[in-house]
Amino acid sequence: MANLKHYSVMLNECINGLNVKEDGIYFDGTLGGGGHSYEILKRISNGKLYATDLDDCAIERATERLKEFNGKFVFIKDNFKNVEEIKNTYNIDGFDGIILDLGVSSFQLDDRERGFSYLADEITLDMRMNRDNPLTAEYVVNNYSLEELKNIFFEYGEEKFSSVIAKKIVEKRKIAPIKTVGELNKIIAESIPKKLQNNGHPSKRVFQALRIEVNGELNWLYETVIKMARLLKPKGRICIITFHSLEDRIVKKAFKELESDCICDKSLPVCVCGKKKEIKLLTNHPITASEKELLENSRSKSAKLRIAEKV
Ligand SMILES: C[S@@+](CC[C@H](N)C(=O)[O-])C[C@H]1O[C@@H](n2cnc3c(N)ncnc32)[C@H](O)[C@@H]1O
Repeated sequence: MANLKHYSVMLNECINGLNVKEDGIYFDGTLGGGGHSYEILKRISNGKLYATDLDDCAIERATERLKEFNGKFVFIKDNFKNVEEIKNTYNIDGFDGIILDLGVSSFQLDDRERGFSYLADEITLDMRMNRDNPLTAEYVVNNYSLEELKNIFFEYGEEKFSSVIAKKIVEKRKIAPIKTVGELNKIIAESIPKKLQNNGHPSKRVFQALRIEVNGELNWLYETVIKMARLLKPKGRICIITFHSLEDRIVKKAFKELESDCICDKSLPVCVCGKKKEIKLLTNHPITASEKELLENSRSKSAKLRIAEKV
């Protein structure tokens, strides 16, 4: 495993937002390089941290990096959507804080072999966070129908040329399977008019879309955020960092649903819906990275942090 650099996004903002208590029970759903977990562990003396990641490498690396805190953490290779099962397995009453730092880590992006980056031409299209998952980007590109590809590129990548790119993929794969990042890059570059290729790398949006599809990143996010908030103890905090507008919209919508009180028609004399406000928003507008952080880590550019407290 290459020794790659890692930078945790909005680290101070998250840790302050979590308001870590010495004896608190915390859940880090996206362990990654363990940066946020490290700061939580530093602050708990007789508390505990449970953390998940889909990636074996992340679990291995963080276990080694955080070994000074042995006994205070439990790292589990699992999807954070299974937080309730984890809570039951470990007989946890509730969490004092939950953090999600969504998407891929810089380790995953920088490890060319993983096929997440459009800058690694010779690498096989993969993009799996969990390498036990049978679905790869190569499978999607070579087996999904024209309609499915078009929809994925449009919905998950907000790609204006989704239809042209999907058609070109289907045309090319009839001749030979599309196997590498470079082959896909070439198809995308040929599908987007040259004069419109100045908004970042032309493959950026399609790669984002494929990654979201391969890892099912948006499928259960809304329900999971709702579930997580309900697993917090009173005054427990939830901090979520998103990296693109699709994720942020989902988190914003889930927080809004949890924050809303009675939703009965105003004309009714008494509440019949029974809906109660479950969280207090601590960020009406998402927090973004400071100028200083942006200079040090350009990946923070699109990050948005939303924080809420259980009432
Ligand atoms: C942005 S990184 C987290 C970085 C981490 N906060 C740190 O400071 O080092 C996201 C990590 O979450 C993992 N991940 C993404 N979605 C996940 C999911 N649904 N369940 C578990 N892990 C997930 C990825 O494999 C990746 O390692």
